[in-house]
Amino acid sequence: MFAPEKISTVQKQAHRNCLTNTGQCCELRQAKRLLDTPVARTTSTTHISILLTHHRDASIRTQLPGGNRRIFASTNLTCNPKTGNLATPRRLLLSFNSRVGVKYPSSVILAPSRASAFSRLNLFSKHFDPKPFLELNTPFSTERSAHLEDEDGNVIKKKKRDSDIKKQVKEAEQSTSTTMSSQPQHPALLIPGPIEFDDAVLQSMGHFSESHVGMPFVNVFGDTLTQLRKLFQTSDPASQPFVISGSGTLGWDQVAANLAEPGDEVLVLHTGYFADSFADCFETYGAKATQLKAPIGDRPQLDEVEKALKEKKYKIITVTHVDTSTGVLSEIKALSELVHRVSPETLVVVDGVCSVGSEEIRFDDWKLDVVLTASQKGVGCPAGLSILMVSGRAIETFKARKTRPTSYFGSWKNWLPIMQNYEAKKPSYFATPSPQLVRALNTSLTQILSRPLEDRFADHRAASQRVKKAVADIGLKQLATKPENQANGMTAIYLPEGITPPDVLPSLVKKGVIFAGGLHKEIATKYIRFGHMGVSVTDPDRKDVESAIESLKESLTEVGYKA
Ligand SMILES: Cc1ncc(COP(=O)(O)O)c(C=O)c1O
Repeated sequence: MFAPEKISTVQKQAHRNCLTNTGQCCELRQAKRLLDTPVARTTSTTHISILLTHHRDASIRTQLPGGNRRIFASTNLTCNPKTGNLATPRRLLLSFNSRVGVKYPSSVILAPSRASAFSRLNLFSKHFDPKPFLELNTPFSTERSAHLEDEDGNVIKKKKRDSDIKKQVKEAEQSTSTTMSSQPQHPALLIPGPIEFDDAVLQSMGHFSESHVGMPFVNVFGDTLTQLRKLFQTSDPASQPFVISGSGTLGWDQVAANLAEPGDEVLVLHTGYFADSFADCFETYGAKATQLKAPIGDRPQLDEVEKALKEKKYKIITVTHVDTSTGVLSEIKALSELVHRVSPETLVVVDGVCSVGSEEIRFDDWKLDVVLTASQKGVGCPAGLSILMVSGRAIETFKARKTRPTSYFGSWKNWLPIMQNYEAKKPSYFATPSPQLVRALNTSLTQILSRPLEDRFADHRAASQRVKKAVADIGLKQLATKPENQANGMTAIYLPEGITPPDVLPSLVKKGVIFAGGLHKEIATKYIRFGHMGVSVTDPDRKDVESAIESLKESLTEVGYKA
């Protein structure tokens, strides 16, 4: 732990002078004064900058009613962890909505200590913080800049400078890429979503502007909903597809707002980061979420689920089919059978954001109540659509609500008739859909359904096996320990001891491959994620997966790893 006293003598003296003369630190007063200026009160967005000379970490927060904190800005200042000297004085740049500042009292926190990498990451990213700041969630930036530290907070390996990384990325854009037909050359996006697009999908986004209630678009939307029934393998007329502008997260909101009522009990099976967020979403709507957790890389076992279901009555059970933070695959069929046997009234909700399109899902056969997904992963479409399949039983549960859904945009009261009308090819309006995105989805679904789904899943399984074998041959381990726990559309790979994502990701970009860094808060700096979904595995002309494996080997060799 790095102690506040270790600030250099000059800085410590400056800090002390402030406190002796005024009882309050000048940097703190400056920040508070700027926050209270008339400018801050009259404009909607305010930018202020504070020169920090004797504080290293700083943030400005507002205490909201109910004790929630809202963070406006924060900075981490570089200092020598041994001496505590600041490298240079830093500016804290704030940009915030001043209306919030007017409404609630603000507090300026100039934190003197720099405990560990994680405490600093907490300022940026809600999933590194046990008390999340919902406004800021930028895991990508933390993945890219993560580095190893010893117990005293000393940096173990020298981090590459940002300018080096930018240079490498530029070189990559200019010189390397897989062959991507009519698309400009670019590194292959092999993160677990968004994924690479097929040309035809991309071209659908270029459709001229059209009315969202004109028949050409209504027909396409109607077809798209019908196609989704095939993708989810449901022929039950009572089940209902939804396609709403938004991302995968809107699926959580739809489930929590429409199926849970305040006080309802929900059992959330945890295989990584996304279960924490889904549970948080339920609590936002007043439901009580209980998480059943497994060790990292594993999934809750069926006997544990059975025990939990027997101990308490749950209205909903949720399971993340593939948790994108760990690459852990859950077994949905057996789980659903168990739930129907032990607690038949419990609704079975599957987060399929990282599985629909790459893992088999049989909505009717497996008696599922909701499968929620998004457009940007196995479905092979640009991000921007929340896609759900909802059972007749779930729709009845929604209709029997005692309370009104506390989401307006996400309420099925508003969307259900619209989806039914569109599928019946009748123009209808609640909120404007995106014709271009729906057209892209239609194209992608047409391609997916042009061959048997079994073949598509077999392609994903085969590519996944190639990746997993290569990982083992290189001498690396996966987060998901057992073969039956391993997703077919992605692989989460532990890096060799002492190597962090920033050591290899930029070099991979240079070779034409983009992987993602770690996302699970406890081990984020120790692993990388390789997405192998959609055209990267189904298009035989693309060699994305093979090139990525080779590039990974080369990048590891460059940083001194010997298999
Ligand atoms: C399993 C899972 N659930 C939910 C989400 C949230 O989706 P989105 O980022 O599209 O809002 C993601 C995103 O990656 C995910 O992987």
